[in-house]
Parts: sequence; C-alpha cells; structure tokens
Amino acid sequence: MLEARNLSLIYRNERNDEYYALRDVNFLANHGEMVGMIGPSGSGKSSLLYILSGLKKPTVGTVYYQDRALEGMSYNDLAEIRRKEYGFIFQRHFLIDYLSVLDNVLAVVNQSQKAWHNTAINLLEILGIADFANQKPYKMSVGQRQKVAIARALVNQPKVIFADEPTASLDHSNARMVMDILASLKGQTTILVATHDYSILEQADRVVHMWDGRTIKTTLPSSLPKSTENV
Ligand SMILES: Nc1ncnc2c1ncn2[C@@H]1O[C@H](COP(=O)(O)OP(=O)(O)O)[C@@H](O)[C@H]1O
Ligand SMILES: [Mg+2]
Repeated sequence: MLEARNLSLIYRNERNDEYYALRDVNFLANHGEMVGMIGPSGSGKSSLLYILSGLKKPTVGTVYYQDRALEGMSYNDLAEIRRKEYGFIFQRHFLIDYLSVLDNVLAVVNQSQKAWHNTAINLLEILGIADFANQKPYKMSVGQRQKVAIARALVNQPKVIFADEPTASLDHSNARMVMDILASLKGQTTILVATHDYSILEQADRVVHMWDGRTIKTTLPSSLPKSTENV
C-alpha cells in the first residue's frame, strides 16, 4: 500500500559536508496496518514520515503509494492524494486561531456538505471537546488543541494517517484515548505513528526501530519494554 525503497535524505552544511538524516531506508506498510516508528530524537522518524507522505522529497530513493511512484506524479495529483486520502497529525498542531474549532476541523473538506458537519461534530464528541465547537482554539489547553488537530486529520476519513509524535502534548490518559481512537481505525486505515514513546505503541501491528537515520530492526510491540506499571 505504502512502500519506500532505498531512501536517503542528505543535508549539506556550509562547508558542503554531507549529513545523512536517512540512509538506505526501506519501508512497507500494508493496507490497514498500524506501524510505529520508534527511535531517539534525531534518528530520522519525522524525516521518514514526511518523505512517505510526499511532503518532503528524498535525495535518493522512491516512495510508492498504491504502486504509483510519488516521484512521477504531478504536483496537483500529489496534492489531491494528500487532501482526499491522507490525514496528518503533527507534533505542532497548526490550528487557525481566527476560525472556530468546528471550522478548523472542516477546513480540509468541502464545508457545504452537511455530512461533513455531522462527522466533525461526532469526532469532537468522541474526543470530548464538542462543547468547544463554536469557540476559537486559542482558548483551549494544549491537549485540547491537539484533539482538534486529530479531529481534523480524521474528518475526511483518510486511507492513510501520518502521525508525528501525536501524543507529545497530552497526559497519559488523553494519550491513551488518542491511541485507542487511532487503533480503532486499523483494518480500514493505514496508520503510521512516529514517536520516541514506546508506551503508546502497544496496539501497533509492527514497530520499526530507527537509529542514526537507519531502520535497524522491525519487531512486534510486545517486545518493547513494558510501560510504567511494570517498572
Ligand atoms: N532542515 C534540516 N537541515 C539539516 N539537518 C536537518 C534538517 N531537518 C532535520 N535535520 C537532521 O536530520 C536528522 C533527523 O531528524 P528528524 O527526522 O527530525 O529526527 P526525529 O524525528 O527522529 O527526531 C537530525 O539529526 C536533524 O538534526
Ligand atoms: Mg521528529
């Protein structure tokens, strides 16, 4: 469904030294799978996620979405896929402060259709922030704002969700709620979650471990260290 072959992402500094943010990475996510990417800060998780989503171009290598190379696509085709088939949850939530919460969620879809409106309200209810629907997001806490961003990522019922540290601004119980919502989409939706927090990946189908720009191994979440209850 989503595959990358031989990806490298190379930055050059002012002395023209090469620095590999990613080196020779291969990646595959099947339809409906939840795949975690885990690794310390700087290991290349965000770079890989942005390249897989077509937001960033690799220096070397190719990404295939449903067997089509992103590289060969026109800007418009790629933009159309991103708008209709992808959902994004970023670490920083990029909400529009002069729109209401509801309008932020609806900003990515054709707002004139009543069905989207109902879907959006429904998502806000599930996330426990429906009371804020007509308020401006700057009045909300960081965690509540992250939930708005999550509702926005889900409203178009995407085929693939790209989530970069989606729980970074949430406390443990809210982080769990968000991961439960994402996990409930498994089967229909492919979900990629980049994080340094292995405790949120218990429901992943596979976990790709990254280190220094490389993928070093793929495991089941059951082989990750157990979260705090066992410490
Ligand atoms: N625009 C950039 N210019 C130079 N180096 C960058 C840039 N963006 C990221 N990097 C470097 O690439 C490496 C991987 O970064 P990143 O993908 O953000 O890792 P992670 O998400 O795992 O923390 C890091 O060493 C980072 O400093
Ligand atoms: Mg990152």
